[in-house]
Amino acid sequence: MACKRGALIVLEGVDRAGKTTQCTKLVESFREVGRAVHLLRFPDRTTTIGKLISSYLENKSDLEDHTVHLLFSANRWELVPLMKKKLEEGTTLIIDRYAFSGVAFTSAKPDFSIEWCKAPDVGLPKPDLVLYLQLSPAAAAQRGEFGTERYETSSFQQRVQGRFEQLMDENSVNWQVVDASQSIDEVHDNIKRLSLSALTAAEHQPIAELWR
Ligand code: TMP
Repeated sequence: MACKRGALIVLEGVDRAGKTTQCTKLVESFREVGRAVHLLRFPDRTTTIGKLISSYLENKSDLEDHTVHLLFSANRWELVPLMKKKLEEGTTLIIDRYAFSGVAFTSAKPDFSIEWCKAPDVGLPKPDLVLYLQLSPAAAAQRGEFGTERYETSSFQQRVQGRFEQLMDENSVNWQVVDASQSIDEVHDNIKRLSLSALTAAEHQPIAELWR
């Protein structure tokens, strides 16, 4: 590899764990120290596929469960050329949700196995670090009411949390659990420290493939 590549860093966790706030703070702190960094979020609701997903999440349309799972995956694959280009140019990607949300949310529905849910995402660029923002259902409830989108109920979110925990048992992925019940700044400090070390470790490694 001619130049040092960027790192692929993913933030995951149940709703209200603070992923979006922490992604933004991480991007700002990388920029402050002069690192090239780019923020992505999935679903990316701006593409044609993303608009179908967004309408489904807002309960404006219905989609069959397998179909929407495949659309979420397609929404990641359509961004892969951009992701690889950025990483190879040396830009670090911070991503708000990735294939792990895909698997955790669909497999929380009845009759979906983790294995089936993973299949369409096998081979995606593999994250160098997945930060799981851990927050108990009780602490999440204290952060206010859920929104009105599909999946925003505490019983569903508890099942999702259980699926994330199953995914975290696999050691093929570099999971790091962060206690999201701390203050925003404490969580940020932990995330920044873990991210900086992932950045250094990734520099001379080729981009690997997820779940392969
Ligand atoms: P967000 O835009 O607020 O993060 O919400 C996206 C919702 O979509 C959230 O409930 C998680 C869910 N989701 C899936 O079901 N599958 C996926 O692949 C992704 C990325 C998100």
